[in-house]
Amino acid sequence: MVNKLKERFLEIFKVEGERVFFAPGRVNLIGEHTDYNGGHVFPCALDFGTYAIVKVREDKIIRAYSDNFEKLGILEFSIDNLVNEEAHDWANYPKGVVKCFMDAGFKIDRGFDVLFFGNIPNGAGLSSSASIELATSVILKGLFSLDIDMVSMVKLSQKAENQFIGVNCGIMDQFAIGMGKKDRAILLDCNTLKFDYAPVVLENAAIVITNTNKRRGLADSKYNERRGECERALANLQTKLDIKSLGDLTEEDFEANKDLIPNEIDRKRAKHAVYENQRTIKAVEKLNSGDIEAFGKLMNASHVSLRDDYEVTGIELDTAVEEAWKHEGTIGARMTGAGFGGCTVSIVKKDFVEDFIEKVGETYKEKTGLTADFYIANIGDGAREL
Ligand code: GLA
Repeated sequence: MVNKLKERFLEIFKVEGERVFFAPGRVNLIGEHTDYNGGHVFPCALDFGTYAIVKVREDKIIRAYSDNFEKLGILEFSIDNLVNEEAHDWANYPKGVVKCFMDAGFKIDRGFDVLFFGNIPNGAGLSSSASIELATSVILKGLFSLDIDMVSMVKLSQKAENQFIGVNCGIMDQFAIGMGKKDRAILLDCNTLKFDYAPVVLENAAIVITNTNKRRGLADSKYNERRGECERALANLQTKLDIKSLGDLTEEDFEANKDLIPNEIDRKRAKHAVYENQRTIKAVEKLNSGDIEAFGKLMNASHVSLRDDYEVTGIELDTAVEEAWKHEGTIGARMTGAGFGGCTVSIVKKDFVEDFIEKVGETYKEKTGLTADFYIANIGDGAREL
């Protein structure tokens, strides 16, 4: 793979690429729409992601090419003029990261040629955008010998997405991709950024990702709408409770105070945020004690809550998950990521994986008219130079 990409670099830029960087995609096992609510998430990095071949330049120009968007050709800009331009499409992600690093005072005084290639399906909710952001972060650290740790790179990458791209995401994706560790998932408290690695020992089971191939059409506007609903519910609760986020509440606290939220929809959204956070903490305890069945049941409950209370699923995600639940090899299944399309994640007994892919694929197609893609997920390391 890397050798092929180096040949491609030479073809495109007419010089040899010198250094190789990689940032993974991520999948969230449980803890959805909790990150911006000050709750816990439990994602892991994947063993596929974004590769970057790079050569530093003597001038201040960045020339960027993506093998995933060949038609756009080489996109060129100067580090003296880093503004979001529609014509620069995907290259706005690396551009935004460079800008955030420079604004934070890191000395980047030259440009570079970079070729990206990603094997994460685009727009499927496995964080191809955060992957390219973290790939850019490790490129900058590597090329310019920056004194910066991974958590700071995670924060600057999130800032690029929030401020330069204009997507108001939480910190989960960038954190999982930056801090990922092979065979481990990360229990992250998004309120404090304290985290623990948990070994994902599934015995005779595998993590299967199903891409519904339903594009996440309204994802960004609906995402912001959900954030707004949760913020309103929090403000209502704060009229009586001394809390900073919905993540500060137990289920009991919520039930005792939910009448402070007059709007029924806001109340449902807050209920999801509170219960999902507690569910995530419990799920990790179950996994750590080897009770995979219980972990699976909590995954199922997470989906139900995202479907009924948070309302971010839709017919495709629901069908893929419900068909997975019907399969005898399934230990647990739920949507993963922002929702409204994208992927589901299932824990499936190894002996049944092939049959799962066949049966779920078949009935999913019958019911939705769409063909799903399946991936067996291996948990890999975070963003790094190769
Ligand atoms: C997207 C966002 C994350 C998180 C999830 C939902 O992936 O980028 O920050 O909010 O949705 O859990």
